[in-house]
Amino acid sequence: MGRIKFNRVLFLMVLQIFLVATTTGDETCESDRKMEEQCRLHNYKTVKPLLDYFRQVRNEIEQSETKEKQISELNSDLMEKYHEIVRIHETFVKEAALLNEYKNKVIKGENDLQLCQIKVDKSESEINSLKEQLTDKSTNLENCQVQLKSVNSSLIEKDENIKRFSEIIKNKTEHQKTLELELEKSKSILVKHEKDIQLCRSEINKLNTTSENIREEQKKIQLKLKESETKLIDKVKQNQLCQSELDKLSPTTCIPFGEDPGVHQLNVSGIGLFNVLCDSQLAGPGWIVIQQRVGGDESFDRDWATYRKGFGSFESDFFLGLEKIHRITSLQRFELYIHLVAQNGRTYNFRYDDFKISDEDNGYALSLGKFNGTIRDGMRYSENMKFSTFDHDNDKDNYANCAAWFESGWWYKYSSPCNLNAPYGPLLRWWDKSYKYIFNLKEVKMLIRPKKR
Ligand SMILES: *[C@@H]1O[C@H](CO)[C@@H](O)[C@H](O)[C@H]1NC(C)=O
Ligand SMILES: *[C@@H]1O[C@H](CO)[C@@H](O)[C@H](O)[C@H]1NC(C)=O
Ligand SMILES: *[C@@H]1O[C@H](CO)[C@@H](O)[C@H](O)[C@H]1NC(C)=O
Ligand SMILES: *[C@@H]1O[C@H](CO)[C@@H](O)[C@H](O)[C@H]1NC(C)=O
Ligand SMILES: *[C@@H]1O[C@H](CO)[C@@H](O)[C@H](O)[C@H]1NC(C)=O
Repeated sequence: MGRIKFNRVLFLMVLQIFLVATTTGDETCESDRKMEEQCRLHNYKTVKPLLDYFRQVRNEIEQSETKEKQISELNSDLMEKYHEIVRIHETFVKEAALLNEYKNKVIKGENDLQLCQIKVDKSESEINSLKEQLTDKSTNLENCQVQLKSVNSSLIEKDENIKRFSEIIKNKTEHQKTLELELEKSKSILVKHEKDIQLCRSEINKLNTTSENIREEQKKIQLKLKESETKLIDKVKQNQLCQSELDKLSPTTCIPFGEDPGVHQLNVSGIGLFNVLCDSQLAGPGWIVIQQRVGGDESFDRDWATYRKGFGSFESDFFLGLEKIHRITSLQRFELYIHLVAQNGRTYNFRYDDFKISDEDNGYALSLGKFNGTIRDGMRYSENMKFSTFDHDNDKDNYANCAAWFESGWWYKYSSPCNLNAPYGPLLRWWDKSYKYIFNLKEVKMLIRPKKR
C-alpha cells in the first residue's frame, strides 16, 4: 500500500513534468502528432525515447487508479463480509451451544433408550415365554373346543332324546291315564256284569227249576194230550162212523156208496135230494161223475139255465149241473179226476187237488188247485174263468162269443184250446205234454171226490 502511494506520488511528479513539456491529456494524439512533426523537424531523434517512457508511465498510472478503486470497493465488500462472518460466528456459537444441549439430550435419550431396550428385551423374552405358554394354551383350548363340540353335539343329541323321551313319557302317561280310566270303566262294567251274571244265574236257576217244573208239567200235559188224542181219534172214528151213517142216511158225496157204484141219491143243503152217478172203477171208490162223454148223441150246445140245472142221462152223455157242482164242492175240499180216451184208444188220466166252482152270482168261476199228470195241464187256461154259454157270454174275447163258436158251454177265456164239452170231432181234443201232439177224443169223464187229508 505504501509503495503504491509512493509510486503514485512519483508518477504524478513525472506526469507534471511531462505535461509541461507537451500538451494536455485530451489533445495527446493530436498534439503528439504535431509534436512529432515539430520534432522531426527539430531534434526528434534525441527526445523520442523519453516521450515513449512517459507515455507508458501515464498508462500504468491510469490502470493503477482503476485498480485502487476496485480495491476500495473490494475492501468495503470485505468489511461487509467480515461483519457477516462475525454474525455467522455468533449464530454458530449459539447453535453450537444448542447442539451441545441436544447432544446432552441425545446422550441422555440414548441412555434411556438403552434402558428401554433392556426393558423391551426383558419384555420380549417374557412375551416369548408368554407366547409359548399361550400357544400351549391355545392348542389346549383347541383340543378343549373339539371336545366341547363333540360334547355339545352329544349333549344336543341327548337333549333331543330327552325331548323325545319326555314326549313319549307324556304320551304314555296320557295313554296310561286313558287306560286307567278305561280300566276303571271296564272294572265298573265288570262289576255290573258280575252282578248281572249273578242275577242271570239266579234267574237261570229259577228258570231251571221252573223249566223242570214246566218239563214235568209238559210231560203231564203230553200224557194228557195223548190221552185226549186217543180219545179224539176214537171220537173222530165214532164221528166218521156217525158221519158215514149220517151220509148213508143223508149223503153229500159218493163215499158212502164206495162198494156200490151206480146211481145214488144225495141230500145237499140248498138243493135237497138229487141223483148222481158214482164210480169206483176208474180211480178207486167214492167218485161222483159230474160230466160224461161216451159217444152219446146228447147236445152240449145248451143255454145257461140248462147248464145250471144239468142235462143228459147217466147211461150216456150228461152234465150234472153247475148249481149242484157248486153246492157239493162248497161243503168240503174236492179233487178232480179227468179220464180221456183218444180216438186211437189210448187213455190219459190227470188230477187237480182243489177243485170247486163259485156260486152263480160269481159266474160259477173255476178253481183247480195243483195239477198232477203226464199230459198237458189244459184246464189251467180256464182257471178263475166264469162259465159261458151262448146266452151268457162271460169270456174275455171282445169280438167272439166263444160258447157260440164252440157250440158248447165252458169256462172260456178266449177260444179255449181244451174244451171237454165241445162237439165230437176236431174240436173235442187235447194236447200232449210236449205241446206238439194234438189228439182227438172219443171219451171223456170228469169225476170228483173229497180230498183225503
Ligand atoms: C352347541 O351347538 C348349538 C347348535 O349347533 C350352538 O347353537 C351352540 O352355540 C353350541 N354351543 C357350544 C358351546 O358350542
Ligand atoms: C303322541 O301321541 C300323538 C297322538 O296321540 C301322536 O300324534 C304323536 O306322534 C305321539 N308322539 C310320540 C312321540 O309318540
Ligand atoms: C238245572 O238243574 C239240574 C238239576 O236240578 C242240573 O243238573 C242242571 O245242570 C241245571 N242246569 C243249569 C243250567 O243250571
Ligand atoms: C136232507 O138233509 C136235511 C138237512 O140238511 C134234513 O133236514 C132232511 O131231512 C134231509 N132229507 C132226507 C130225505 O133225508
Ligand atoms: C200224482 O198222482 C199219482 C197217481 O196218479 C200219485 O201216485 C202221485 O203221488 C201224485 N203226485 C202228487 C204230487 O200228488
